[in-house]
Amino acid sequence: MKPAIIVSRPIYAEVIDRLRNHFEVTAHQTDPEWTLAGWTQALSAHDGALTMGIEPVNDAVLSACPRLKICANLSVGYNNFDVPAMTRHRVVATNAPDVLTETTADFGFALLMAAARRVTEAERYVRAGHWQKWALDMLPGMAVHGSTLGIIGMGRIGQAVARRGALGFGMRVLYHNRSRLSAEAEAECRASYVTKQALLEQADHVVLVLPYSKESHHTIGAAELAMMKPTATLVNIARGGIVDDAALAQALLSGQIAAAGLDVFEGEPSVHPDLLKASNVVLAPHIGSSTRATRLAMAHLAADNLIAFFEKGTTLTPLNPEVLAAI
Ligand code: DGY
Repeated sequence: MKPAIIVSRPIYAEVIDRLRNHFEVTAHQTDPEWTLAGWTQALSAHDGALTMGIEPVNDAVLSACPRLKICANLSVGYNNFDVPAMTRHRVVATNAPDVLTETTADFGFALLMAAARRVTEAERYVRAGHWQKWALDMLPGMAVHGSTLGIIGMGRIGQAVARRGALGFGMRVLYHNRSRLSAEAEAECRASYVTKQALLEQADHVVLVLPYSKESHHTIGAAELAMMKPTATLVNIARGGIVDDAALAQALLSGQIAAAGLDVFEGEPSVHPDLLKASNVVLAPHIGSSTRATRLAMAHLAADNLIAFFEKGTTLTPLNPEVLAAI
């Protein structure tokens, strides 16, 4: 009998078709409003799951799912997984790195430029019919070329943002990360390692690309915003919760920093009501990796992980390889 796989939410039909060649597939091509109990019950009837990075897989869920052997996230972020609990329950966890790196870095730059050059404010101004004449001082923004870019979180996406800044825009690139890159990697993306405080004090544009964890919760809060230049912009393409959104809204409304570009939010899809009041923030609904080609590649990578696991006892991008080794 084929293993039973659940696909938690709608994905491309061609990926479902591919999965059906290998598995009994329960697809949810109409977006379900999962309750925790409903999700847990559905998961418990399957050997594996293709998840979208938002369905909880934690100790309580796993205790009710003794049949489950693998969860393959379609996203690179995996803060929906309690990986130590998955390891204890001998459930393999995989994510989808690499295939979205350049696309997400592109979007980080799109938000940086839109925030710094006030693109969405300008568009609202024109649409509202306020544009009567050309004016020298109309909507002045902050320079991107030749400015200082500060990147917090220097994994694959952070390095791709750094290359865009250094090579495309002649920016001086500073970075802060849990561990320092090798000299070769620093040279390749022309980035210099500094403390978080030095980065916040010196950068004209701060881009956040670090994974969410208890340790990275509110990496940027009121104290950090106070260290930034009043002309600085802040871009979050990482995860909600890395920024204290209430503190950021106050900093934007009071002019403590100049602008922000946000693709992710605390408690998304809710957005802090004070952020909605600020005209100097560009808001996006978590679309950093959203080109069709990239989202399709992410879905295929998650499917590849499920197929490799059930047919060869391996995976391409494991998060807890020790579980595989113990099988
Ligand atoms: C990711 O892959 O983590 C993106 O943020 C999409 O969820």
